[in-house]
Amino acid sequence: MDDRIDELRQKRDEARKGGGEHRIESQHDKGKMTARERIDYFLDDGTFHEFDQFRTHRTHKFGMEEKQLYGDGVVTGYGEVDGRTVFVFAHDFTVFGGSLGEVFAEKVCKLMDQAMEVGAPIIGLNDSAGARIQEGVTSLGGFADIFTRNQKASGVVPQISSIMGPCAGGAVYSPAITDFIFMVKDTSHMFITGPDVIKTVTGEEVTFEELGGAVTHSSTSGVSHFAVDSEEEALDEIARLLSYLPQNNVEDPPRVDPWDDPERADEELTNIVPDQPRKPYDMHDVVDRVCDEQSFFEVHEDFAKNILVGFARLDGHSVGVVANQPRVNAGTLDIQASEKGARFVRFCDAFNIPILTFVDVPGFLPGTDQEHNGIIRHGAKLLYAYSEATVPLLTVITRKAYGGAYDVMASKHLGADVNYAWPTAEIAVMGPQGAVNILYREELAEADDPDARRDELIEEYREEFANPYTAADRGFLDDVIEPTETRARLVDDLHMLKSKREQTPDKKHGNLPI
Ligand code: COA
Repeated sequence: MDDRIDELRQKRDEARKGGGEHRIESQHDKGKMTARERIDYFLDDGTFHEFDQFRTHRTHKFGMEEKQLYGDGVVTGYGEVDGRTVFVFAHDFTVFGGSLGEVFAEKVCKLMDQAMEVGAPIIGLNDSAGARIQEGVTSLGGFADIFTRNQKASGVVPQISSIMGPCAGGAVYSPAITDFIFMVKDTSHMFITGPDVIKTVTGEEVTFEELGGAVTHSSTSGVSHFAVDSEEEALDEIARLLSYLPQNNVEDPPRVDPWDDPERADEELTNIVPDQPRKPYDMHDVVDRVCDEQSFFEVHEDFAKNILVGFARLDGHSVGVVANQPRVNAGTLDIQASEKGARFVRFCDAFNIPILTFVDVPGFLPGTDQEHNGIIRHGAKLLYAYSEATVPLLTVITRKAYGGAYDVMASKHLGADVNYAWPTAEIAVMGPQGAVNILYREELAEADDPDARRDELIEEYREEFANPYTAADRGFLDDVIEPTETRARLVDDLHMLKSKREQTPDKKHGNLPI
């Protein structure tokens, strides 16, 4: 028996060494942790249970039969983060560059199936050279088996990807389907075709970092939701993100012990919105002062900054926050902002997270660039996402809510449950200036002093429409409230809406304008 146990221990040691000492060293030289080091750092101490560590590939081509390494390039298993179960797969770059072959894919699929059965999040730590060249089409099939599971798991359990090395070609599409992507600056790259292929095909010269680094994807393409400075930071931030989420779509998100007074009336809120309608202010100040102190966890911070999205807490409960940002492009909705908002709203709705929307939107961004690139269909995504949502929707209009953008931003008409406006709100088809220019074009052309007359008409329009009371009169707003009352009202409303149930008609699925 002792011999057998020794044999097992030896095999385990061998499996833990992956591709061997020199490849581990080379991984460290690149500033990267190994797959097992990442898992150890991420999970609560002593909770990792590994699956399939003795599996090896079945290839007999290109001399592969001589190279049998335990694990086949991916470490899989489950463990706990802050006492809650998660399933993790970590690509092992020390084994065939973490390239994906048939057995590798089978291991990941097995893990994903089990995570879906038990209803626990799936975390993928990506560091892979892509499809294993020696295994040809079986590798490609393996990728597709994973993609299918990513789709099936979407909206069932949270799926989070962290890119910690290369992620190229077809390999990008598994993270792309997952809910959130983290990228580590300098050491991670994502692209469909690399700089060499681009140069050959188009003549364009671009570096790895410019093409598909963390900064590019978190600010320009929006592929990545977070760009972080180190692997440790990525893993810490994933743990923080998980703390806002339920384990699956039939659970409610966890409530933490509240640390902030639910009745707190922050006097500063009264001074945030400037008297001049065109003067910008930072919507972060509103979010931070209304939600539980220090609870806002921003998602997609560097992408489409004219809208803010992220998780926060209200009296310890998780909420998703969506807010126009008047400081960037006056808070207009454009293509990227609409997509960013829509995807976040759909995530929250899938995972029972109530959505708190702060509105200060002068409209959709005008221009041929926006029109020709499809603002109509992209803007419709946000409208669709809010209309489809059945989670509690709470909306506060702080200042402007003009035109179609008023409808889109979680208006009563789309099914929001509680709609408030601050006394500074202006709700109308368009801003006073534009409206007066259209309505009184002829009168202004003939006026002795057009500027003075325009000012008069603007003032009249402002009194008539640019306030919250017409909407309140119609019941489109449930109340007009003082900024300092906002937090206490929302905390109570969230509590009241806890038992909200909404039936939707049976259908296979809707046809989101993608
Ligand atoms: N299939 C099988 N093995 C692969 C591989 C692949 N797609 N890509 C890399 N490897 C192996 C290498 O042969 C090397 O093996 P060794 O340790 O036994 O020498 C090991 O993985 C590490 O690769 P290496 O090239 O030394 O690492 P690097 O850090 O210098 O470069 C890449 C990493 C990913 C940039 C580079 O390996 C690469 O371009 N690979 C091809 C990527 C690709 O086109 N994949 C298909 C797209 S789906």
